[in-house]
Amino acid sequence: MSRTKRVLIISGSVLTVLSLLVGGAFLWLWTGADVNTVGKEPFGNELAIPPLAESRVEKDGTRVFDLRMQLGQKEFKDGRKTSTWGFNGDYLGPTLRAERGEKVRVRVRNGLDEPSTVHWHGMHLPAEMDGGPHQMVAAGASWSPHWTVDQPAATLWYHPHPHGATEKHVQRGLAGMFILDDPASDRLALPGRYGIDDLPLIVQDVTFDGTEFDHGHGMMQNAGFLGERTMVNGTLNPYREVADERVRLRLLNASTARTYTFGFSDDRAFDLVGTDGGLLERPAALERVQLSPGERAEIVVTMRPGERTVLRSYPQDNYGDAWQERFNGGDDSFDVLQLRAADRLRPSPETPDELGTLEVPDGTEAVKARHFDLKRSGINGRAMAMDRVDEIVTRGTTETWTVRNTNGMPHNFHVHDVQFRVLEVNGEAPPAALRGPKDTVFVPNGTTMKLAMRFDGPADPDTPYMYHCHLLYHEDQGMMGQFVVVEKGQQAGRPSEHQH
Ligand code: C2O
Ligand code: CU
Ligand code: CU
Repeated sequence: MSRTKRVLIISGSVLTVLSLLVGGAFLWLWTGADVNTVGKEPFGNELAIPPLAESRVEKDGTRVFDLRMQLGQKEFKDGRKTSTWGFNGDYLGPTLRAERGEKVRVRVRNGLDEPSTVHWHGMHLPAEMDGGPHQMVAAGASWSPHWTVDQPAATLWYHPHPHGATEKHVQRGLAGMFILDDPASDRLALPGRYGIDDLPLIVQDVTFDGTEFDHGHGMMQNAGFLGERTMVNGTLNPYREVADERVRLRLLNASTARTYTFGFSDDRAFDLVGTDGGLLERPAALERVQLSPGERAEIVVTMRPGERTVLRSYPQDNYGDAWQERFNGGDDSFDVLQLRAADRLRPSPETPDELGTLEVPDGTEAVKARHFDLKRSGINGRAMAMDRVDEIVTRGTTETWTVRNTNGMPHNFHVHDVQFRVLEVNGEAPPAALRGPKDTVFVPNGTTMKLAMRFDGPADPDTPYMYHCHLLYHEDQGMMGQFVVVEKGQQAGRPSEHQH
């Protein structure tokens, strides 16, 4: 055998062995990458319900809440404590509740040892009260935003928003619900007894490393942190007994990167009655509802005496290519919560056919069209800068915002201060689940969405509101922009580059 032949044979077999090794390693990664907890949850823990926040009403009618961000320890698993952060407690926070027209003030105290903020996600309020990255609260300091509730009944939420660290602050446990009521929806025959037939469900994914949270991002993951199991209201393996024929579930995806497609284990239909910013015009009978991070849905489910059913999250059918599906959570399934119906159920009225009229604009009065190209590296080709105003909006006008994702990975889009109407998805009328007031939408790769919103002010040229991808890792990395609302003809100010 010639020397060249020998060299060829040897290098050939080395190459074969190497490619087998690489292929094997990839196969091993591939098959191990999807997460599935279906049938594996023992449902041994009763679902915790976040307490309603105490409040007091001052002489001028202002409802005042106290929220303290604090370090804590919580026993998620028997006898084992995990370090956590929470509002007024060890993990998550109480549910704030206020009526339309009410003046509210929240006295926020930062008891952490680092600066943070509290943002009122979905709330229409002055920019200075928004709790975005320009309203930092130093460790040990307080902040007392106040505003008048001026929007329909809805399931909103609150969470920190320090630029570059939001994922971390939310993951440690800083999140809570903010429920708004109004007289019109109070009159509807919808289940409404908090914690009884009206259940807040804060869904998060989590991974434990021993007793502590493991927040590591996987090697192949570009979505951010994806946990290997879910919990609801901070309860692992949760079940809930219900004693009413119909139950309203207020679903909040408070996960930092994970998108869920919720449905029931027996594929029963449920009524979708509300989206992020309030009730739909009429209920939609659905078997699945998809929620990306930050989105909410209110559903009414009908129970039969003595039965059990499981709220489950199914694989995503619009998540992008096989790579995204496999390594970024699209293929994953979770058993989220077991509902156990009592042997005798209190009868509930039928879900009403009409729920009200939408207050979000239909776009016909829009005076301006803007376009947003979503890329992980930044929106419209630039990463977030604290001292740059990206968009200037005139108070009292309606606009259309067209959002496009061709980035090859899932993103979503959230706008502060407003609720919007989805006018079009890839040129078509939106599906039922996107026909209510929204402040956050899932924008899968290859999707263009046209949204309509109205900016009712007040004007503040110096203090921006945010728009961003609510996959918090993307947001932290700069997938965020700033807009100010100004009076007609007014110039934008120059926001500070510092988080002050
Ligand atoms: Cu839920 Cu800008 O945030
Ligand atoms: Cu927000
Ligand atoms: Cu994103």
